[in-house]
Amino acid sequence: MLIIDGKKVSLELKNELKASIESYKAITSKVPGLALIIVGQDPASQAYVRNKAKTCKEIGINSTMIAMPSETTQELLLETIHKLNDDPSVHGILVQQPLPAQIDELTVTLAIDPSKDVDGFHPENLGHLVMGDLDKCFVSCTPFGILELLDRYAIETKGKHCVVVGRSNIVGKPMANLMLQKLDAANCTVTICHSATENISFHTKQADILIVAIGHAGFITPDMVKPGAVVIDVGINRVDDPSTKNGYHLVGDVDFNGVSSVASAMSPVPGGVGPMTIAMLMKNTLLSFQRFNGL
Ligand code: GUN
Repeated sequence: MLIIDGKKVSLELKNELKASIESYKAITSKVPGLALIIVGQDPASQAYVRNKAKTCKEIGINSTMIAMPSETTQELLLETIHKLNDDPSVHGILVQQPLPAQIDELTVTLAIDPSKDVDGFHPENLGHLVMGDLDKCFVSCTPFGILELLDRYAIETKGKHCVVVGRSNIVGKPMANLMLQKLDAANCTVTICHSATENISFHTKQADILIVAIGHAGFITPDMVKPGAVVIDVGINRVDDPSTKNGYHLVGDVDFNGVSSVASAMSPVPGGVGPMTIAMLMKNTLLSFQRFNGL
């Protein structure tokens, strides 16, 4: 069974991005800029944003972290976004989710200039994805990272049946739309399953490529997988574990040990899709810089 090693691929990709950023800097004397906004004190969100800032530093992207208190008004957050929209040194704007209850996530997403929406959450970017205009948009980082993994591992996708489990706006829906595209690493027949799907294992067992983003530890068991399938696990679930320093360990949505005896290839958790998400955020930020500078 092949392990789809997202950690290794993300390192390769980050090195490639770093080299590109250095060469553009030599030509233009400019570097890409990413604004990271976090509202409130959620420890998991703080850790994610810190990790994004650290990766920016490693590869030469200029990141600005804007930490706002949890009682921040929507008005102030929108004002902050508008300023960043108008700032030519900022090529990407990311507002870490979830946001406090007084702030409407859709209003915030709509306020970000679509040409700086490196998360790919704006309806204009999602619309371009659905229409297949990938050169005009940003694709949400997790689905984009999975496509990159399938591509770099030369997984055969053309005409294959891809089943996506999960219908979120940031993973399931863009993932299904990507796998539908007439691209080398896509061009699949696509089924989407979700919490109301009847007899879900009937569908998952049809999958040549099974992509699982449902947020339920160990949801996919070996009896739900077709022998030889490629299984991509997007889940990041905390399981209590007093033997670890943090008191928990991470598992995916797939029963890794069980399914590894049925699948032909699998992405592990941790070390699979997760590291690719940040690498693709960096790739989107560089893409935005290239578009802004006509490179
Ligand atoms: N919260 C969890 N994942 C993400 C992400 O990819 N982008 C943003 N903005 N918030 C998140």
